[in-house]
Amino acid sequence: MISDEIRQSFLTFFREKGHRHVRSSSVVPHDDSTLLFCNAGMNQFKPFFLNQEKPLDSRIVNSQKCIRVSGKHNDLEEVGVDNFHHTFFEMLGNWSFGDYYKEESIEWAWELLTKIWGLDKKRLWATVYIDDQEAYDIWNKVTDIPEERILRFGEKENFWEMGNTGPCGPCSEIHYYVGENENQQDPNGVNKKSDYWELWNLVFIQNNRLPDGTLDDLPEKHIDTGAGLERIATVLQGKKSNYDTDLFQPIIKQIESIVDFSYEEIPIPFKVISDHIRMLTFSISDGAIPSNDGRGYVLRRILRRASKYGRSLEINEPFLYKLVSSVCSLMGEVYPEIVDKKSHVEKIIKSEEISFNKTLGRGIIQFEKILSNNKDNIISGADAFRLYDTFGFPLDLTQLMARENRMLVDGQGFELAMDKQRSEARLKEKFTASNGEIFWKEHTKGSNSLFIGYEQLSSESTIRKYAIQDGKIYIILDQTPFYAEAGGQIGDSGIIKGAGTILDVEHVIVTNKEIIHICVGKLSLKETVLCEVEKCKRLKIMKNHTATHLLHKALKNVLGDHVHQAGSLVHPEYLRFDLTHPEKLTLKELKTIEDQVNEQILLNHKLETSEKNYDQAKNDGAEALFGEKYEDKVRVVEIEHYSMELCGGTHVNRTGDIGSFQIIEETSLAAGVRRISAITGLVSVKRIQKRSEILNNIQRLLNVPEDGLVERVISIINEKRNLDKQLNKRKLNQGFQISSVETLMKDCGQHKYLTLQLDNASMEELKHIGDDFREMVKSGIAVFFSKENQKPIAVIAVTDSLVKKGIRAGKLAKEIGTFMGGGGGGRPHLASAGGSSILELDTTINQTDLCITKYLKRLI
Ligand code: SER
Repeated sequence: MISDEIRQSFLTFFREKGHRHVRSSSVVPHDDSTLLFCNAGMNQFKPFFLNQEKPLDSRIVNSQKCIRVSGKHNDLEEVGVDNFHHTFFEMLGNWSFGDYYKEESIEWAWELLTKIWGLDKKRLWATVYIDDQEAYDIWNKVTDIPEERILRFGEKENFWEMGNTGPCGPCSEIHYYVGENENQQDPNGVNKKSDYWELWNLVFIQNNRLPDGTLDDLPEKHIDTGAGLERIATVLQGKKSNYDTDLFQPIIKQIESIVDFSYEEIPIPFKVISDHIRMLTFSISDGAIPSNDGRGYVLRRILRRASKYGRSLEINEPFLYKLVSSVCSLMGEVYPEIVDKKSHVEKIIKSEEISFNKTLGRGIIQFEKILSNNKDNIISGADAFRLYDTFGFPLDLTQLMARENRMLVDGQGFELAMDKQRSEARLKEKFTASNGEIFWKEHTKGSNSLFIGYEQLSSESTIRKYAIQDGKIYIILDQTPFYAEAGGQIGDSGIIKGAGTILDVEHVIVTNKEIIHICVGKLSLKETVLCEVEKCKRLKIMKNHTATHLLHKALKNVLGDHVHQAGSLVHPEYLRFDLTHPEKLTLKELKTIEDQVNEQILLNHKLETSEKNYDQAKNDGAEALFGEKYEDKVRVVEIEHYSMELCGGTHVNRTGDIGSFQIIEETSLAAGVRRISAITGLVSVKRIQKRSEILNNIQRLLNVPEDGLVERVISIINEKRNLDKQLNKRKLNQGFQISSVETLMKDCGQHKYLTLQLDNASMEELKHIGDDFREMVKSGIAVFFSKENQKPIAVIAVTDSLVKKGIRAGKLAKEIGTFMGGGGGGRPHLASAGGSSILELDTTINQTDLCITKYLKRLI
C-alpha cells in the first residue's frame, strides 16, 4: 500500500465510524504561547479537552503535521541514527471528546491494524499503564490478542503528557516487532530494544496537569490517539526503515542525483537531510523564518545541521533548497500550503545556506584550532559559545562535530554563556502570557470569551474569571467587544466599569481561545460590568486592516502571484506588510500599487464577511495566509469585486471609509522578504498637508513656480559642487608650495620621499597634485592619501629620475592598495590605489613609509 492510500484508509475507516475529518493545523502554533511547534495531533484540540470550547463534533479524525525538536518531545538526536525518529512526521489520529472511551478506541485500533491492514498478530504487543486494570481487561475482552502480549508499564512509558502542563492521561500503546526472527520475541524487548516499534498510542485523556505539578480530574473523558504514518508505511510496505518507504525515497533519490555518493554507501547523511528538508519545508510554509531566537533559531539549527551533513557528501554549494520540489511533489496534494509557498520556502532556505556557507569554512578552522589546543577531550562552554556567536555554529552542530572527533562539549558552560548574553534582552521583553503563569480565580460559571466586537463597541458583560498579580488585573468575560491581538491586528483598549469597578484595559490577548483583558485600576466583583472599546483607536485600526487587504491584492496584481503575506502589523497609526518578493520594489511599482489601492478606496466597495467551510472558501478563491489554522469553519472577508481573504480581523464597512492611502517606506526584512509601511485616513491626510507646507516654504524661499522647483534645486546643488571644487583646489594649491613640499619630505639615504594625507581631495585632484609634484621636485617619491565616499584612496607619483633607476609607481600602488584592504596599480610614474571603508589611514601611512624605504634602500 502506498502511503497516500494508508493515510486515506485510516481517514475512511474512522469516517465510517462516525468521525468528522478536520484538516491539520499549522505546525507553527499561532495561539498557544507554551509551544514552539505543534508536537502532537491533540494541540489544536486542547481547548476541547479543557472544556473551554465546544467541538464541532464529538468524534474527529485527522492527519496532523507534527514537529518534535524542542521541549518535552524532542527526537532530534535520534534522527538519522535510527530508522524511525523524525523531526517532522505525520500523526494519524482519532478523537473522542466526551464520547466513546477506552473500549471503542482499543477495539477499533486492533480492527484497523489486523483486519484492514492485515498486520501479523504474532508480532503485535499492547502496553497499558501499570494501574489501568480497566484497559488491561478491555484488551482481553474486545481483541484476540494473547494475554501474555499485554504488558504493564509505569508513568514514563504509559502516561502521556503534551508538555509540563495541560491535558494528559494514562495511555495504551501498540508495538510491533520488526526483527528478523519472529520466534525470538521477548516481552523484555518492548520499550527497550530497537526492533520493537511503537506504532500507535491510545491516550485516555482524563486529567489536567496544573502549573504546581498536581493533577486535576477533567469533567469529561476523552480519547486522543496518534499513529505515525511513516512507521505504519514502513511496516505495511515490508521495509526495515522509514527512509526506505515512498515517503522518503524520492527525496533521497534527488540527493543522490546531486552528489557522487549513494544512500547504500553512507546512509546517515541522506537520512538526516531528507528528514530535515521536510521539517524546513513545512515550518517555513506555515510562517516560521530562520532567525537567532526561539522558533526561528530551531529552524536555523536544523538547516545548518543538514547543510553540515551535505559537506560530508562533499557538497559545498547551496543544495537543500533544490529538495523542496521533491517534498512538494510528494505531499503537496494533501498539504497544498507547501505548494502555494514553494518559491518562498526555496528562497529562504537558499539564502540561509549561502550565509552559513560564508562562515562555515572559517568556523571549521576555528574548530580545528580548538581541537588541537585541547588536551582533555572536552570542548569548553566558552569555546562552544564563541563558535556559536562568531561563526553561527548551533550547539548541536558543535556537538555533532565533537562526536565525530570523539570529544564532548560542555553544554552547561555553553548555556551559562548564552544566558549571560540573553539576560539583557530578556529584561526588555514585553509582557506575554507565556512568561508569567496567570493564577485564575473563577467568579461565575458558564462559557466565556464570546467575541461580539465585529458589530458593537460596547457591551454589558459578566466576569467569568479574574486574577490580580504583579500590579495588573486580568479579566475573562462571558462576552466582550474587545478585540484581542491576533492575525497582526493589535488589541483594543478602553475601559471596563461597574459598581466599584473602574479598569483601564491596556492589552487584550488571546490564549487557548480565552480573551484576556489586561487592566489597571479597581475591581469590585459586585455586578455585571460595562465594556467600552476606545472607538477612535479601533476605527483607525479598521481602516488600516482593510487597507492591508487592498494592499495585499494590489501587490499580487502588480508584482505577481509569487507574492505572499509573510507577516503583518495592523496598528492604529500605520500598517506594515511583509511580502515574499526577491528584490527591492521600484518607485514606479510602489506608485502603481499605491494608485491601485487609492482607486479601490474611491470606488467605495462594500465589504462582506461570512463564515464558510475551509475547502469552500479556498475554492471560491480566498487567499490563505501563513499559519492559518485551516479549521473547518473559516471567516472570509470579501471586498466586492476585488479581494477575498481568510481573516478574523475587524474591518470598515466600505473601502471609502479608509479615506486615503500612502506607502511611506519599503525596506528589506530578510532574504526574499520585503517590508512595506503605509498610512491611511487622517494620518495620511496630515502627512500630505505637512509635506505640502514644507514645499510651499521652499517655493517661497527659492521664489520659483512649483513646476520649476526640482530644476532649481538641481542647479543649486550643481553650483555648490562646482564652488566646493574650486575652493578645494585653491586650498590645496595654497598649501602645496614647492618650498613646503620639500620641507615635508623625509630622507632615506640620499633619496627623499613624501607621504601626505590631504582632506577632501578626489582621486582626480590627487592625480593633479601628483603631476604637480613630479614637475616641482627633481627626485623623489610621493604618496598622497585622501578619502572619497568614505573610502581611502591614494595616488603615487615617482619622478622620472627614480623611474629610470627602477622604482615603479604601479608596483608601489599595488602594495599600498593591500595595506588599505583593496588594490591598486597604474603606470611607472603615476599610479593610484583604493581600499575598503573601515580603515583609518594612520596605519596605512606607516606601512607605506616602510614600503617606500624598503625600495629606496635597495638603490643606495
Ligand atoms: N497525543 C499522543 C501522542 O502524541 C497520541 O496522539 O503520542
